[in-house]
Amino acid sequence: MKKVQLRIWRQRSQNDAGKFSEHNVDYEDDMSLLEVLDILAESLIKKGEEPFVYDFDCREGICGSCGLVINGVPHGPLKGTTTCQLHMRHFNGIASITLEPWRAAAFPLIRDLVVDRSAYDKIMSAGGYISVDTGGTPDANCLPISKTHADKAFDYAACIGCGACVAACKNSAAHLFVGAKLAQYAVLPQGQPERLRRVIAMTEKMDELGFGTCSNEGECEAVCPKEIKTEVIAMMNRDYIKAMLFGA
Ligand code: FES
Repeated sequence: MKKVQLRIWRQRSQNDAGKFSEHNVDYEDDMSLLEVLDILAESLIKKGEEPFVYDFDCREGICGSCGLVINGVPHGPLKGTTTCQLHMRHFNGIASITLEPWRAAAFPLIRDLVVDRSAYDKIMSAGGYISVDTGGTPDANCLPISKTHADKAFDYAACIGCGACVAACKNSAAHLFVGAKLAQYAVLPQGQPERLRRVIAMTEKMDELGFGTCSNEGECEAVCPKEIKTEVIAMMNRDYIKAMLFGA
């Protein structure tokens, strides 16, 4: 067993002043970070102390609910990896790990390490449905879509909406998320009828919900666990200009 100090952000609500609590815990390299948190939380409960609140669901890098700022970096030290897929061996025997929630006005804190990311759902909902009826699988397979475009759509659709891009951005911009969600439709024929209307609706909702603007720092791309590229932001901006010039 090895030892590490965990510094965990504790804050009862958005309006309370928060502070770090420090805990020395034992671990093995093959344990995931979340397993170490599980053991710590359980030991606090057994001692009659209040456990800290943290979020997760799939623990497979799919659902996007586990995001933490780990030693100052959203999702921690391993590129292209969610918090739940981090193992203690990835910290190389570091003495202390500091865990904080996403910090962005559009993601209000619920408690401790958990924030409310429902702003993302509101942006998706503003985007609306596509009007094209693709029919059943055989019909959809009859649509001529090049391999390049199919691959691109799949890459963009890999966004899990975790919020790391917002947490990493000094402006708390959601452009990488919104760009990915727009681009996954924009490269497919089914996405064309509402393409320009969708970009206006989603960017307006993003602004309304308090996300900042993009200043091309690229921090979002650097921390994205699905390695979404900032090319989606360029695509979003081009479509936005087209919609403004020619109407949605
Ligand atoms: S718990 Fe689902 S992505 Fe981490």
